[in-house]
Amino acid sequence: MSSFKIALNFEDGVTRFIDCKAGEKVLDAAFRAKINLPMDCSDGVCGTCKCRAESGSYDLGDDYIEDALSDDEKDGGLVLTCQMVPQSDCVIAIPSSSTACKTGQSQFAATVSKVEQHNDAAVVLEMNMDANAPVFLPGQYVNIDVPGSGQHRSYSFSSAPGESTISFLIKKIPGGVMSTWLETAQAGDKLNLHGPLGSFYLRDVQRPLLFLAGGTGLAPFLSMLEVLARTHAQQQVHLIYGVTRDLDLVQVEAIEAFRAKLPNLTYATVVAEAESTHPRKGWVTQHIPADALNDGDVDVYLCGPPPMVDAVRKYFDDEGVKPHSFHYEKFTPNASTATTATTAKAA
Ligand SMILES: Cc1cc2nc3c(=O)[nH]c(=O)nc-3n(C[C@H](O)[C@H](O)[C@H](O)COP(=O)(O)OP(=O)(O)OC[C@H]3O[C@@H](n4cnc5c(N)ncnc54)[C@H](O)[C@@H]3O)c2cc1C
Ligand code: FES
Repeated sequence: MSSFKIALNFEDGVTRFIDCKAGEKVLDAAFRAKINLPMDCSDGVCGTCKCRAESGSYDLGDDYIEDALSDDEKDGGLVLTCQMVPQSDCVIAIPSSSTACKTGQSQFAATVSKVEQHNDAAVVLEMNMDANAPVFLPGQYVNIDVPGSGQHRSYSFSSAPGESTISFLIKKIPGGVMSTWLETAQAGDKLNLHGPLGSFYLRDVQRPLLFLAGGTGLAPFLSMLEVLARTHAQQQVHLIYGVTRDLDLVQVEAIEAFRAKLPNLTYATVVAEAESTHPRKGWVTQHIPADALNDGDVDVYLCGPPPMVDAVRKYFDDEGVKPHSFHYEKFTPNASTATTATTAKAA
C-alpha cells in the first residue's frame, strides 16, 4: 500500500481525512493537506504535537525525549504526530479545534510598552500590536524572537484575547538568552511574534475548575481568569499557585483583583523553600482541598516547569485522582537548550 487514510478528529467534532504516504509522518502529511496541527519543534522535544491515537498501528521511533512523551503516555495511546509514522489507516483525536488548525501560524509585529522587573524573579512584559492583534485562546502561547540572537522563546499570554495590549509573565533565568535581553529592554523596542500555538487552552466550562500553577506557569491562568470573569462563569474555580522562593510570588495582587469579578474564585499561594515564613509551605499537591476535587467531577489545568508538572501528574496517579479532564502545559526549555536541562534533571 502506498498511502494510509488518517482521520483527524478535532475537538469541535469536525473530522478531516488526509492521505499519509508510506514512511511519512502524520504532521508532514497534515501540512501537505494545509492542516496546521499543533506543533512547535517538529523534533520530538516540546510535546506540543501530542495527540491520542484511537485506532490503527504506527511507529513512533525513538528520536524523542521523555519530557515530550513519557512511556506511560505512549502506553496509554498518546502519540507525537511529528514522530508518528502510520503503518495502517488510523484515527487520531486532536486536542484542538479545527478552526485553530486551519488557521496558519501568523507573524505579528509589536512594540514594547512596559517592562516591569520583579526582583530577580520575573519580568512582566507588555506590548502593543503594530497592526492586527493575534486571535488566540486563553492558555495558548506565542514564540517571541529575541532581538539580535536569531533565536526565539515560547511564552504563554497572561493577557486575555481581544486586547490591543498583550502581556507575558517571564521567569528570569541567569544568563538566559531572553532573560539577558530583558535586562535592558525598554518601551519602544520592536519584537516579532509567531503564533498563536498550543492545545493548552480553556475548554467549555461545565464543572468546577482546579488550576495548578508553578512559578511563571501562572501566566496562562491570568488569561483564563479574565475570560472567566468576562463570561461571568458560575462554576467554582480554585487556583493553587506554588513557587520556590518567597520573592517568586509575583502578581498575587492580580489574582486578588479577580476575586471581585469572580465570586466563585478561591486561591492559595504555596512556597517550597524551607526558610520561607509563608503560611503554606511545600508543594501544591499538599494544599489541594478535597472539595476542590469535587469527587472527580472537575476539570484540572496544570502549568509550570517540567519537574513540577511531572510531580503533580505522578501524585494524581499515585493517589488515584481521576478528574473529568486533565490539561497540562510544560514550560520546557527551548529545543536547543533542552538537552542541558534534561541532563541536569537526571543528575
Ligand atoms: C509552550 C511553552 C510556554 C512557555 N511559557 C512561558 C511563560 O509564560 N513564562 C516563562 O517564564 N517561561 C515560559 N516558557 C519557557 C520559556 O520559553 C524559556 O524556556 C525560558 O523563559 C528561558 O528562556 P531564556 O532565553 O531566558 O533562557 P535559555 O537561554 O533558554 O536558557 C539558559 C539556560 O537555562 C536553562 N533553563 C531554561 N529554563 C529554565 C528553568 N525554568 N529553570 C532552570 N533552568 C532553566 C536552559 O536549559 C539553559 O541551560 C514556556 C515554554 C514553553 C515550551
Ligand atoms: S512538535 Fe512534536 S514534540 Fe515538538
